[in-house]
Amino acid sequence: MRLKSTAAATLTSVALLLGSASLAQAAPTDLPSVEQSDFSDPSSLIALINPTTQLSPEDYVPENLVTVPGSSDKLRADAAAAVEQLIADARAAGHPIKLISAYRSYNRQATLFAKYQNQYGTAYAERISARPGTSEHQLGLAADVGYSSGKCQLHACFGDTAAGLWVAKHAVDYGLIIRYPEGEEATTGYKYEPWHVRYIGTEHAQAMEASKVSTFEEYIDLLKGQAKEDTSAEDAEKAGKKSESSKSAEPKKEKAKQEESTTTRQKSSENSSIDDLLVLRFLPPFRDWSFGF
Ligand code: DAL
Ligand code: ZN
Repeated sequence: MRLKSTAAATLTSVALLLGSASLAQAAPTDLPSVEQSDFSDPSSLIALINPTTQLSPEDYVPENLVTVPGSSDKLRADAAAAVEQLIADARAAGHPIKLISAYRSYNRQATLFAKYQNQYGTAYAERISARPGTSEHQLGLAADVGYSSGKCQLHACFGDTAAGLWVAKHAVDYGLIIRYPEGEEATTGYKYEPWHVRYIGTEHAQAMEASKVSTFEEYIDLLKGQAKEDTSAEDAEKAGKKSESSKSAEPKKEKAKQEESTTTRQKSSENSSIDDLLVLRFLPPFRDWSFGF
């Protein structure tokens, strides 16, 4: 009897182990296959750019920029088509949003960051604006959308508006993600930006949604885990944890060290009328209400 119980228990354990093994193998195979170089190639849809990961070359310009119809802003052609359709469908659904900002050159981002730095100080500027060479807008894959006017334009409260809720719900259908979700600043490096969408293509956007992670950094970690040689339970566990891609707070100290040299690289100013409007909107002591793009 005792032997039988032991045998039954052993069989059960084996079955559970086999089940676990197949589960551990199932999750990674659901992810699109990628190559290690995709994470750092600025022309890749899954290029990771954040405060710890700078563009290379830092003055990178996408090859296939096109003007987004209905605006004067540019995006990469694939992202432009997605954002144009998102805006058109949102408007058809009764949410009159428009494109507010899209591709930004290195110099343009330098000008913007300097404005925020002068207005709020370096520490706060880093929470709302990327330093030049670290903005997804320079990839030609990021767009800021919102109402034409009103207090929620480029402001956290956009996420609670009918349009903001529609964008959050439907972005995945267009291959877009809300890149800086609420409550994820420790991972993304930036305050909540419900207006900033990043194009990663529908295959990745759907896979990211299915994987239940909140941030692109965590999704990249999953992809990196899968890109390794096997899909063992150990790898799956490692991939599920927030690893190097996710740790953005520490490198800000490094960025502060670079502040002086960065400032000297601020080379030109482009059309800045909207920046002037935005930067002047909120003054201390209301700086926590402020926004960036
Ligand atoms: N506001 C985002 C982080 C940018 O400047 O790219
Ligand atoms: Zn943005």
